[in-house]
Amino acid sequence: MSEEVSKIVDSDGNHMVVKYANGYPFPSFEKLKDNLDEFKNWTPKPQDVFLFAYPSSGTHWLWEVTCMLIEGKAERLQLEKEHYMIENSSSKTLDNLKEPRVLNAHVYIEQVPECLLENNKIILISRNPKDTAVSWYNHNVADLETDYTGKFPAFYELFRVGNVPNGDWFNYNKTWWEWSKGRSNVLWVTYEDAKSDLKSVTKQIAKFLEIPASDELCQAIAQECTFKKMKAEKHNLLPFELRGDMSFYRKGQVGDWKNWFTVAQNEDFDQIWDEKMKDCDLPVQFTI
Ligand code: A3P
Repeated sequence: MSEEVSKIVDSDGNHMVVKYANGYPFPSFEKLKDNLDEFKNWTPKPQDVFLFAYPSSGTHWLWEVTCMLIEGKAERLQLEKEHYMIENSSSKTLDNLKEPRVLNAHVYIEQVPECLLENNKIILISRNPKDTAVSWYNHNVADLETDYTGKFPAFYELFRVGNVPNGDWFNYNKTWWEWSKGRSNVLWVTYEDAKSDLKSVTKQIAKFLEIPASDELCQAIAQECTFKKMKAEKHNLLPFELRGDMSFYRKGQVGDWKNWFTVAQNEDFDQIWDEKMKDCDLPVQFTI
């Protein structure tokens, strides 16, 4: 499959512009396929930390927390953040980033170099797929490049079968989960846990990364990374010119799906969940 720009069309005839890499649809980042091909053959530094998640799971939020922990300061980072997202960066750009580095991506496991999977610390984030669907819908509507103007019900029909940018939520999370089981270089974090107690999750990340962070530092980072503060300060990962006014900070709540899903959609999704997750103990909070 080439990098050529393609379109996903919803049942109302509205399109979403995507690019394919390894057969998976992604938002149309410039040089997406080149960047991901280079990444597959790239060798990270042993200290590089990676955050992987299906989009809209809180990647940007926990990236900020992890960077602050590594820097040892509860301060907003003055970095060119867009370069820390792998889809958006060539291997040369990645090589030039100041160390120690925290990189993030929404890539599938087969797009990641073997040496990274074996040797580097990886934080995986999952979020209730119903909230993820709502957040990802709003993100796509706000993304200039995606050019999507559809309504949520039509987007939902695509999401439930995985025909949206970044593909199938179940496939993405289950593949990473099955691979990660029993591995000491992986930490799973849920959006909901981070929402309910960010200080504890910050401590968990510090322990995993073997960073001797004090209670005070974890508390200060949690305070610096509240939704309200990050939204007010516009901790944006990508500049406006790249992706438009995207909703990295839309609502930041657990359970907003209840304002979007109809009773029928909810029942439908519960059924899909039961089918797809019956043999899977993925750490994700679904029933809230
Ligand atoms: P909502 O659209 O539900 O508000 P990602 O960075 O993976 O794209 O995730 C984006 C989601 O994380 C958005 O969800 C965004 O509001 C939420 N988010 C970002 N920063 C957050 C924070 N500090 N606290 C809680 N949620 C946050």
